[in-house]
Amino acid sequence: MSNPIFSEKTIREGVANYGTPFWIYDRATIEKRIQELKCFDTVRFAQKACPNLSILSIVRNAGAVVDAVSAGEIIRALRAGYKACENDKQVPQIVYSADIFDHDAIELVKKHNIHVNVGSADMIQQLADAGVRSNLTLRVNPGFGHGHSKKTNTGGPLSKHGVWHSQLKDCVKLAQANGMWITGLHMHIGSGTDFEHLATVCDAMRDASRRLGSHIRMISAGGGLPIPYKEEEKGNRIDIQAYYDLWDKTRKDIAQSVGHDVALEVEPGRYIVAESAVLVAEIRAVKKQEDKLFYLVDAGFNDLVRPSFYGSYHGISIVSKDGRELGPEQDVIVAGPLCESGDVFTQEEGGYVVTRKLPTAQVGDFLVLHDAGAYGSAMSSNYNSRRFAPEILQNNGKLEVIRERQTFEQLMENEKIVSL
Ligand code: LLP
Repeated sequence: MSNPIFSEKTIREGVANYGTPFWIYDRATIEKRIQELKCFDTVRFAQKACPNLSILSIVRNAGAVVDAVSAGEIIRALRAGYKACENDKQVPQIVYSADIFDHDAIELVKKHNIHVNVGSADMIQQLADAGVRSNLTLRVNPGFGHGHSKKTNTGGPLSKHGVWHSQLKDCVKLAQANGMWITGLHMHIGSGTDFEHLATVCDAMRDASRRLGSHIRMISAGGGLPIPYKEEEKGNRIDIQAYYDLWDKTRKDIAQSVGHDVALEVEPGRYIVAESAVLVAEIRAVKKQEDKLFYLVDAGFNDLVRPSFYGSYHGISIVSKDGRELGPEQDVIVAGPLCESGDVFTQEEGGYVVTRKLPTAQVGDFLVLHDAGAYGSAMSSNYNSRRFAPEILQNNGKLEVIRERQTFEQLMENEKIVSL
C-alpha cells in the first residue's frame, strides 16, 4: 500500500531536512475537500481536528469559516485572520461551540463579540450575567447518537453534549428573558458516522425546529462526515451530494413551516484534513517475540493517539531509506517508543493488538502512517518527555515548515525547580 499524496522522494526529502518523526500535510488536498463541500451555504471547519495556524489560513483562504471550543482556539482563529462578528446579519466567521465557558473563554467571547452555539441553559445564563445580548444558536442532543467508536458518540442520555431535546423551550424562554434570540440549531451526533442514521437525524432536526418557532434562520448539520481509513473503503467515499440533498430537504421543510429562508451549515473537521497528512517515523528496531515480528518506530501514541485511544485504523506504508526494493510482506506489529504496552499502531477497538501485512523492512527505513491529518498532531502530548514533532506543508511542490520541532528547552520552559 503506497500513499497517493506524497511521493517516496518527498518522504526521503522530508526525513533528510527535518528528521523523524514529522507530520506532512498537502495543501491541495485540503482545498479540494473544502471545494467538495461548497454546496452548503457555509462550510465551518472544526479546527479541533487540526488547529495549526497555517492550516487555518489555508482553510480561510479556501472560503471556509471556523468553530472554536476554547479560548485558545478563539485566539488561533483570530490570528489566522478570521474576524470577529460585526453584526447579527453576517455569517459569523468564528463560532464558539464548547460544552462550557471557562473564565478565559467567556471573556474572549464578550471582548470579540464571538457568536456562541450554547450547549446548556447555564451557558445562556452565564452570557446574560456577563452582559452579552446577542443572537445565539443552540446545540441539541436529540436523544440518540452515533460515532466511529463509543468514545466519539455525542448524543443520547450518556452524552454530555448539547441541550436535551425536551428542554429546548426552556432555553428559548431563558434566552428571550435576557434579551437574546436563539436563531439556529446545531446537531452533531458523532464522528465518522455514515448514512444509516442520517434520516433519523434530519427528522430530529425538524422536530427540534418546531420547538424553536419562527426565529430559526440557520441549521447546522454538525460534523462527523466519515473518511475511508481502510484500503477496502477507499473506493467508497461518502456521497456529499446525497448527504447535502437530505439536509437541503430538511432545511426547506423547516423554511416552509416558518415562512422564510433557513441557511444550512456543515461543520466537519476530519473530512477536510484527515487525508491531507501522514506521520513519518523511522524504524529503529526489528525484533521477534516468539513468532511475532515487531517494527519499533520513533513515533508513539504521544504523537498519534488514535490507534491506542479508539483502536482506530491508519494505513501504513514503508519507504526504504536507500531506494532499494522492500522484501515480501509479512505479519507485523508496529509499535512506538513509549514505556506502555498500549503504544501500538496496529490495534483494533477494545485495545487488541493485531498484526498487519507489511513489506520486509530494515532498521533505518521509514514508516508512514496515513490519513493522520485530523486528530493527529492536534491530540499529541509530551508523554515520556517526547517533544512535539514538526509539521511540514507540501505547498505547490515545495516543502515548508509550519511548526518547528519543539526544543528540549521549550519542553521544560514553564517548570521551576523548588529550592530545597
Ligand atoms: N462539531 C462538533 C461539535 C464536534 O464535537 C466535532 C468533533 C466536530 C464538529 C467534527 O467532527 P469530525 O467531522 O471531525 O468527525 N478525536 C476523535 C474525534 C472526536 C471528535 C470530537 N468532536 C477522532 O480522532 O476520531
